[in-house]
Amino acid sequence: MDRADLVVVANRLPVDRVVDTDGTETWRRSPGGLVTALEQVMAKTDGAWVGWGGKADLDIEPFDFEGTLLVPVPLSAEDLKYYYEGFSNGTIWPLYHDVIAAPVYRRSWWDAYVRVNRRFAEAAAEVADQEGFVWVQDYQLQLVPQMLRELRPDLTIGYFHHIPFPAYGLYSQLPWRRQVLEGLLGADVLGFQRVADAGNFQRSVRRIFKYPTRANEIEVPAGDGGSRSVIAAPFPISIDAQAFIELSQRPDIRARAVEIREQLGNPKKILLGVDRLDYTKGIRHRLKAFGELLDDGAVTVGEVALVQIASPSRPGVEAYQDLRDEIELTVGRINGDYDTMHHTAIRYLHQGFPREEMVALYLAADVMLITALRDGMNLVAKEYVAVRTDNRGVLVLSEFAGAADELTTALLVNPHDIDGMKDLILRAINMPEAEQSRRMRAMRRKVLENDVEAWGRSFMKAVDAVRNKRATGAPIPREVKPTPRKKPRE
Ligand code: G6P
Repeated sequence: MDRADLVVVANRLPVDRVVDTDGTETWRRSPGGLVTALEQVMAKTDGAWVGWGGKADLDIEPFDFEGTLLVPVPLSAEDLKYYYEGFSNGTIWPLYHDVIAAPVYRRSWWDAYVRVNRRFAEAAAEVADQEGFVWVQDYQLQLVPQMLRELRPDLTIGYFHHIPFPAYGLYSQLPWRRQVLEGLLGADVLGFQRVADAGNFQRSVRRIFKYPTRANEIEVPAGDGGSRSVIAAPFPISIDAQAFIELSQRPDIRARAVEIREQLGNPKKILLGVDRLDYTKGIRHRLKAFGELLDDGAVTVGEVALVQIASPSRPGVEAYQDLRDEIELTVGRINGDYDTMHHTAIRYLHQGFPREEMVALYLAADVMLITALRDGMNLVAKEYVAVRTDNRGVLVLSEFAGAADELTTALLVNPHDIDGMKDLILRAINMPEAEQSRRMRAMRRKVLENDVEAWGRSFMKAVDAVRNKRATGAPIPREVKPTPRKKPRE
């Protein structure tokens, strides 16, 4: 098998299997954020990507896709149940999102997580070139860095954590808290979304292992009696802002935005929510606030419409099934009470859409509602901002989404405070254009400057600094491990 100098390891491959009408199977680039985020980093080398092909028991040979070697890792139905639905999405996901849903601690799930992480590590070890760089992605694979280091000490290893890292008071619930930290500390550079996430991680390392930490650098004892520097720092992820801007200028997409407004009966204001159907997203809280605004007569159907896209997610996990039932009951009730023959209160779509349609929706929306109870970053916030080239539109953004650290001129909301959220929604609906423009301009500057290319570059700079330290002993420069100005404790 060909070896690669840069290997990405993620739970999913960056492609979806599509079956044509004649039954032939092909692969199509998946629309997800992670894929586009890494696209630009991958484009610079002949890279490889190790990941699951998206279907149980799919056992196929590595293949080339648009210049990247894709290495499928087979997962059985049982692996998916215990490792993916179980430990990843029934234990770690709720625990790391501030226990919004109750995490389940099951030893059989943990055993599967260890087993499957090893399979990913072995696949990466096999495809990585001598002294190459392997970049592990996200919470499904936290043990891979250490496993890989044991298999291939010559490699440089990065890890990026796309979701929050919880405060020690919560993290310490995890029966395998030592093993997970050990797994992560196998990396040379650990990237987090927010200052608070990197801080929470470092505090857990200090509490559990007592390793010294200094300005984002952790000294981890090495087998030879010496120590190894690990960087654990914030690298907030972003989007390919230019690609979104280009889509927003396309005449067909602009026409589609106008058509969407017409199809909704040309309401004065369109509110938009775009989320995976996940309990972390605060969809119930948002519906509660909107429903009460209708009850109060503060907004009227026909004048204001809410479009809620809730893309299907993790349907095998019970908490997601329950959430779907609850949301659909609520939407049905609100629409039942307020719809007319001509207009709907909430246009609810339990579907995923291609990027073009998403951009048309962003262009059609006067107000974007992001009310997550906890969210690593929330790239939808950045996408909405990027496409608003006329500086119109209002972003209502949860304080609990990573994006709030950067998009500080959004209308920041605490989604638990229903009255506060109602006030902010009304303020957004009635905001004068001059204020919209002032706020949007500042946000657009941030998103355009800190785009995904800048994100990849700053992560790779940290990787190079660690490599250099290992080779020459040169200290890691301050700018690649910036000390946070403020240290929020969470
Ligand atoms: C979040 C996670 C990703 C995950 C995505 C979709 O964004 O950070 O790692 O891939 O959700 O979830 P799924 O379970 O469908 O892969």
